[in-house]
Amino acid sequence: MMPLADTHVHLLAGLDDGPPTPDTALAMCRMLVSEGARHATALAHQNADYPENTADRLRASAAALAAVLAEKKIPLAVHATGEVMLSPDTLSDWRAGKLLSIGDHRRWLLVEMPHDAFVDVLPLAEALRPEGVRLVVAHAERYDPLLDDLALAQKWIEAGCLLQVTARAIAEPWEPGFERALKKWAQGGFIHLLGSDGHGIDRRRPALAAGFNRLAKWVGKRHAARIAGEWGRAVLEGEPLTVPPPRPEGRSWFSRLFGD
Ligand SMILES: [Fe+2]
Repeated sequence: MMPLADTHVHLLAGLDDGPPTPDTALAMCRMLVSEGARHATALAHQNADYPENTADRLRASAAALAAVLAEKKIPLAVHATGEVMLSPDTLSDWRAGKLLSIGDHRRWLLVEMPHDAFVDVLPLAEALRPEGVRLVVAHAERYDPLLDDLALAQKWIEAGCLLQVTARAIAEPWEPGFERALKKWAQGGFIHLLGSDGHGIDRRRPALAAGFNRLAKWVGKRHAARIAGEWGRAVLEGEPLTVPPPRPEGRSWFSRLFGD
């Protein structure tokens, strides 16, 4: 099986609401390896709740984690990343070097919506694109105005955005309507990356495999492996990535191209 890539997991001990200690972070890394992951973000929030999370602080913490993983021969490559909460200052903060891109490659910026708000990412996506920077929309399934509006999601993708979905949401959708919407996204090519959104080992564990398996039932193994593995690794390593345009009409064309 293709190694999985977790494009959303909090692994920087003590820096946010993720693992409180290095031991917990390490246990999460071991868990990820057992889930089949070989690449993962070492991410922490960058927002007003965590003003001390400068890009340098995240870089140093991720480097320390990588050193421990190497020493203990745990086969997981970790990629320093900020989970950036969108604000009116996002563009200026980026240009001032305050925000940490995925893997620090300055190609992909992981963004989430502000608390209790939904904002249009298009202006930011369009401002960053000429600089060679594109957006990854974190846990995109959380945002009903996006999940329920395929035309909007399509516009964002055409503007270079990738949509990241949480593995647990796919594995255990909490409501039939939500499951239908997610399946439609999956089969229409609206899902590009998988993340566990893991925060610890007791709660919000870094689970990936069940989401991958469910996704494989929806879109076929080959395409699920792209989403959960190949494309995720490319983004974490800062490679450019071209994804097929989404097709709201769904499975027929998609499985022809990408199914088993
Ligand atoms: Fe997160």
